[in-house]
Amino acid sequence: MTSRRSRSRGEGGLEGRKILLAVTGGISAYKSAFLVRSLVRAGAVVRVLMTGAATRFVTPLTFEVLSGNPVPMDMFASRSDAPVEHVELAAWADAVVIAPATADFIGKVAGGLADDLPSAVVCAARCPVWLAPAMNDGMWDNPAVRRNIRILADDGRRIIDPGEGDLACGTRGAGRMAEPEHIISELALSFGPGPLEGVRMLITAGRTEEEIDPVRYISNRSSGKMGFALARHAAELGAEVTLIHGPVDVSPPAVSAVTRIGSSAEMKNAVSKAFPKCDVLIMAAAVADYTPASKARGKIRRGAGGMSLDLEPTADILAGLAGRKKDGQVVVGFALESEDGEASARRKGVAKGCNYIILNMIGDGTGFGTDTNRITVFRGKRKIAETGLVTKSEAASAILEILSKDRHVKKAAG
Ligand SMILES: Cc1cc2nc3c(=O)[nH]c(=O)nc-3n(C[C@H](O)[C@H](O)[C@H](O)COP(=O)(O)O)c2cc1C
Repeated sequence: MTSRRSRSRGEGGLEGRKILLAVTGGISAYKSAFLVRSLVRAGAVVRVLMTGAATRFVTPLTFEVLSGNPVPMDMFASRSDAPVEHVELAAWADAVVIAPATADFIGKVAGGLADDLPSAVVCAARCPVWLAPAMNDGMWDNPAVRRNIRILADDGRRIIDPGEGDLACGTRGAGRMAEPEHIISELALSFGPGPLEGVRMLITAGRTEEEIDPVRYISNRSSGKMGFALARHAAELGAEVTLIHGPVDVSPPAVSAVTRIGSSAEMKNAVSKAFPKCDVLIMAAAVADYTPASKARGKIRRGAGGMSLDLEPTADILAGLAGRKKDGQVVVGFALESEDGEASARRKGVAKGCNYIILNMIGDGTGFGTDTNRITVFRGKRKIAETGLVTKSEAASAILEILSKDRHVKKAAG
């Protein structure tokens, strides 16, 4: 979790912040000049680094003038005041921002490479590292680039997703660097006391595994991505996050407390224990509805005929906890539906006593295992928001923005 400081801050939380901007070699390098100017105007102290390719697009002089600081280029230059410059720069920064982040540089950061001054500084940095990718839509869609982005997100790097629109290469699509104002507001938010500061959030993620015998189990395709995105964003917004997750396909974010469980019974125990101490419970985990009535001690052997498995329902954790929530506690459930989504979600939310229910339909690019989702949010029976097809990170932001405005959550945030 990002460490937060309590000193008073100026407008936007950027006053006095030390921002190290790494500019890499893409057309959008020109936008970084506006970024530097706006950061300086917001009170930040800015130092700029450039890759060799970046200097082909904008000169170091532009950034030196706008930032008021020199732009060092040579990692091996001899300097008496900072003999190991990349380490000094990395330790100096409150945040490193890579904008634009080229496909090439993204690959280097994901791989932990450090063969020039900007990549060595990023490699040595212990502060939050932000990347604003910018590239042609073909590059952005490239599976290797997507994989690198996932690695970076899993490593806790903050990705400011590119927008869609006209690209410098003449095509239209995703890959435009986020606008400087957007980058600045994300950064400022990360420094300021977030809207969820002081809120204790209990978030569940991933699937459960219900054992049939010592080698087999019943499970589902939940990857944990949605719950992890919620946990990561909630922590960024200041919440104290307890994450309880089952088996997953991605690494959990660094939040206040992380517990890994296996079965639905273990999930129930862990969540029931943590629930009384939370202000908000978000049940994003896909807990099995059924479990084998008995677990075979030894491996079940293959026989000549068919076989059937006796299943019994698992405890309904969401309904159980929502039914005994204290005044002011907020419970959020998820409904994954394949048909009749809105009606089912409304029914589920009301029947289980949730304050909010988030509907996601199984479909193209949505549901389990995907990086994207399309969500509809209900408060009680009332539909209050819906998104188009967005990344799970964006869906998480949308959900948390709604929650941060909830009167109980606001009260918990003090
Ligand atoms: C005109 C032009 C525009 C380019 N724009 C981009 C871009 O927007 N994004 C990108 O990832 N690469 C872009 N490239 C390719 C990079 O400049 C190239 O991969 C370079 O090696 C990146 O080096 P760096 O990551 O060290 O800055 C562009 C190349 C040229 C010639």
